Amino acid sequence: MIPLSLPNISGNEWTYVKDCLDTGWISSVGSYVTQFENMVAEFAGAKYGIAAMNGTAALHIAQELAGVRQRDYVITPDITFIATANAIKYTGADPIFIDVDKDTWQMDLDILEAFLEKDTFYYKDHTYLKSDKRCISAIMPVHVLGNMCDMDRLMTIAKKYCLVVIEDSTEALGSSFKNKGAGTFGTFGTFSFNGNKIISTGGGGVIVTDDENLAKKAKHITTQAKTDPFEYDHDEIGYNYRLVNILAAVGVAQMEQLPSFLERKKEIDKYYRDHLENENLQFQKVGDDVSPNNWLHTMKVKNQRPMIKHLLDNGVQCRPFWVPMHQLRMFKHLPFITNENISDTIYNSCISIPSSTNLTDAQVEEVVKVIRSF
Ligand SMILES: Cc1ncc(COP(=O)(O)O)c(C=O)c1O
Repeated sequence: MIPLSLPNISGNEWTYVKDCLDTGWISSVGSYVTQFENMVAEFAGAKYGIAAMNGTAALHIAQELAGVRQRDYVITPDITFIATANAIKYTGADPIFIDVDKDTWQMDLDILEAFLEKDTFYYKDHTYLKSDKRCISAIMPVHVLGNMCDMDRLMTIAKKYCLVVIEDSTEALGSSFKNKGAGTFGTFGTFSFNGNKIISTGGGGVIVTDDENLAKKAKHITTQAKTDPFEYDHDEIGYNYRLVNILAAVGVAQMEQLPSFLERKKEIDKYYRDHLENENLQFQKVGDDVSPNNWLHTMKVKNQRPMIKHLLDNGVQCRPFWVPMHQLRMFKHLPFITNENISDTIYNSCISIPSSTNLTDAQVEEVVKVIRSF
């Protein structure tokens, strides 16, 4: 089976992990953690990076520090991985789901703007939903599959309605809009390094921010809000969310290879588009101002389920897209703002296909051959 998305462990991973084992620095303190935080922040174009044990924890902490409170709302797209919405719920807030654009599959900014204009009111620097007078405190754009929406426009809308921006850029390390890195537009950006991401630490995350004070706070509450290295004194409720040194060591080795991974993703993306795209099969549309990291190659097709079966029967691993958030049992009762329910269309027609950076040319050609034979 040609795999969907595997980590590419071909650099200094063994050497750096061995160094952790040899020196005994395997836990949550160690030089690789700091090095990894700095490398991710620098690559993204942010001042500070704070490592977390995964992207979901990073999203949770970012929202807590952004001031999202119980019974608030946080706006997010309807097409995303469950972790985005779960992290909102961890704060006690509820998501408002906005439908996505039919071509880019990112949050539809026309729908967002019309909703804020029509269904909310503004009072003393805060925006409230008219129907229940609950505060909408933040907006969390998700850079779905490493693509991005018009971030200039999103930031203008967020400013007008006093919404704190937290970017779920978990899939988008290396993507940019007008040459500004994903994760650096909002108060916080977040990255994930689970097994299928463009670089992987097995499991891991990083929060990025330009705000020194917030960066210090993020480090503080991800390490049990400890005030003293000797005394067990803690000044607030904290979390044990820190990434361990041994995984950060893998991360440092992966970051060293990120430029070559990005190049390979670009090559695979071009090959797929050149050999597959037609009126019945389309990939994500990418805006002129966006340079995507091409994280997970996903195509929109007719006859999605039969094609999935055909691919699996012929040795090509693939997956359908996420079930839209508004369809899930836990979120059905929450606001879903839409005109034509594009997210259901996307769900019913998209298939993710092999995207690992270590795919051989022969494997990429085989994927194309199998798809074309359908
Ligand atoms: C859009 C999105 N948000 C959040 C996450 C959560 O990241 P993690 O799996 O590292 O917790 C992921 C990755 O799985 C994701 O794809």
